Amino acid sequence: MALTIGIVGTGTMGRGIAQIFAASGNSVILHDARTGAASEAKEFVDGMFSRAAEKGRMTSAEAEAAAGRISTARNLADFSGCDLVIEAIVENLKVKQDLFSALEEIVRADAILATNTSSLSVTEIAASCSNPERVAGYHFFNPVPLMKVVEVIPGARTAPEVAERLGALAREAGHMAVTATDSPGFLVNHAGRGFVTEALQLLREQVAAPAEIDRILREAAGFRMGPFELLDLTGLDVSGPVMQQVYSQFYHEPRFRPSPLIDQRLAAGLLGRKTGEGFYSYSGGTKVEPEERGHAAVDAGSVWISNARPERAAVLHEALIAAGVSVESGAEPSPEAVILVTPVGADATAAATAEGLDASRVVAVDTLFPLSGRRTLMTTPATGKAIAERAAAALSADGNKVTVIADSTGFVAQRVVATIVNIACDIAQAGIATPGDIDLAVTLGLGYPKGPLAWGDEIGPDVVLEILDGIYALGGDPRYRPSPWLRRRADLHMSLCAG
Ligand code: NAI
Repeated sequence: MALTIGIVGTGTMGRGIAQIFAASGNSVILHDARTGAASEAKEFVDGMFSRAAEKGRMTSAEAEAAAGRISTARNLADFSGCDLVIEAIVENLKVKQDLFSALEEIVRADAILATNTSSLSVTEIAASCSNPERVAGYHFFNPVPLMKVVEVIPGARTAPEVAERLGALAREAGHMAVTATDSPGFLVNHAGRGFVTEALQLLREQVAAPAEIDRILREAAGFRMGPFELLDLTGLDVSGPVMQQVYSQFYHEPRFRPSPLIDQRLAAGLLGRKTGEGFYSYSGGTKVEPEERGHAAVDAGSVWISNARPERAAVLHEALIAAGVSVESGAEPSPEAVILVTPVGADATAAATAEGLDASRVVAVDTLFPLSGRRTLMTTPATGKAIAERAAAALSADGNKVTVIADSTGFVAQRVVATIVNIACDIAQAGIATPGDIDLAVTLGLGYPKGPLAWGDEIGPDVVLEILDGIYALGGDPRYRPSPWLRRRADLHMSLCAG
């Protein structure tokens, strides 16, 4: 049934929200504190409908009708007939509370009040209302018409039917609605913490350079954008304070501890695209991709593969044989051989010492991610340069790209993905959302190649656990302690998606 929806705040988000709800047949009334802003927003959305008609995504009649359903309000009193008012104003608790108190005096007793806040507590916003039962979070993503997911967030006192009605309305507009509890970062921004935090940790440990970490995560793990590209796009002046805020909202939970690298870079003005320099340089707004570290055109010679992890060794063996690399078959490496190890949950040093191998000839290969993408090789601090070059030659013999990183339990991709899976497990454990909603919201809201829980299942909950246990054992940083959700399901050989 078509509703009358008021939208307060007609900036980036308010416009997008107006567009989807007018398109799905609702009447939309726009209001903004800045004179003229609501009319500008209406013009903008009307323009979007005209363009959609030109591109054949709607008929001209539909575009005209949708535009005709949007009107502007001179003041809040014009919202008296609204079934729902969605707030998308400045992100400030007091200002939002004042608005909700004012709206309560105007709208009908059965009208719903929704906030698009991304970082404030819905419960706190609702606390200013005499009827907090009708207040809920309705968290859309930018750009709203393209990001087809919304988090519905009941506050502590929100009536269940309010969340249900908001969910149904979003679905009618073609958006997937997921329900998340009112907790810091809700679902998507909470689940998205691991990607960047872990990449910064890798950088801090000098495992690899930003561009190398980005390449591995794009080309080996399948992310659309690397974490450092993402940081540069968002701007450190925006993402830095968000990292701080989430960390303090979670009472200094080590998983979300921001990197000291951020403050330094902020102070230096290395904000990203907007300042022309961040983790990358920008020329005329275009990212300058640092050249890949070249690998000398050396002869790979013979390689020997450790059989400590037979299933992983087999994957590597097959790829190298197919590439025509000379793979030794003896039980021990010959004195000339490059020694390849395929650890999971251990670094190159640990793999070498566990087997009593000559660390100066050891190179580890990440076999957990498809060897058809970019391949990650890891050296020990003792590995000779010439050995690393020969290993790179062997692994690139079939034309695959190779990145050589320094010792890191879990390489790059294993660490980042295990961190993401672990945080998603914590979200499931805390009942912030159902496993199905977690995976749905993360794929739609963050554009990750897979839902984190399904990804964990694919890698194997026991393998994810092994990676985290390994990192935790090496450095003792509690950020890597495995989630109880993960450990129990790994122990019971159950799916991470099992509630
Ligand atoms: P924006 O700055 O583009 O638009 C905010 C609009 O609200 C402005 O037009 C401003 O004039 C108006 N405004 C400010 N105070 C007002 C008041 N008291 N009464 C009426 N209008 C008022 O901001 P944006 O990006 O659209 O964000 C709005 C809300 O959505 C914030 O709570 C933000 O945290 C949230 N959000 C933003 C996302 C984004 O990517 N930009 C994503 C998801 C949520």
